[in-house]
Amino acid sequence: MKRAPLISPELLERIVDASEDGIVVAEQEGDENILIYVNQGFERLTGYSTDEILYQDCRFLQGDDRDQPALATIRKALSEGRPCREILRNYRKDGTMFWNELSITPVFDADDNLTYYIGVQKDVTERIEAQMELERLKAEHGLP
Ligand SMILES: Cc1cc2nc3c(=O)[nH]c(=O)nc-3n(C[C@H](O)[C@H](O)[C@H](O)COP(=O)(O)O)c2cc1C
Repeated sequence: MKRAPLISPELLERIVDASEDGIVVAEQEGDENILIYVNQGFERLTGYSTDEILYQDCRFLQGDDRDQPALATIRKALSEGRPCREILRNYRKDGTMFWNELSITPVFDADDNLTYYIGVQKDVTERIEAQMELERLKAEHGLP
């Protein structure tokens, strides 16, 4: 059964833009997944405006920091059309690093063809830095 639209496209856009987290849609094009939509949360998080990054693959957020184990997991999930959730080091337009808890979900069209991916970017920098500090202190004091 098709659900009746209870909210207008304009209100839906306002709601998606209000999200603290980045929300993006990418389309598969050859080996790349190019951005065809980013919400305002993504612009706030990364410092890039929509116009600057549309039609690019999101890997530009990694800069030169490409030696990250999470990337292999993401590549495998994408090639198998599965969802995944990984934590990555990413860089804003001004160069500052943040830890990005990235969730990627494939979206299939009515004929079950994979057409789009939705990505949600959450800044988990505070949590990861606190965990790293805890690990450092435990090691320093010889605690398990
Ligand atoms: C919808 C979607 C959103 C993505 N968002 C990010 C992101 O915010 N940051 C990031 O570093 N990579 C992101 N990626 C992952 C990269 O686009 C790419 O898949 C990853 O770097 C692994 O492939 P590569 O080794 O070819 O670069 C996203 C991918 C998809 C499909």
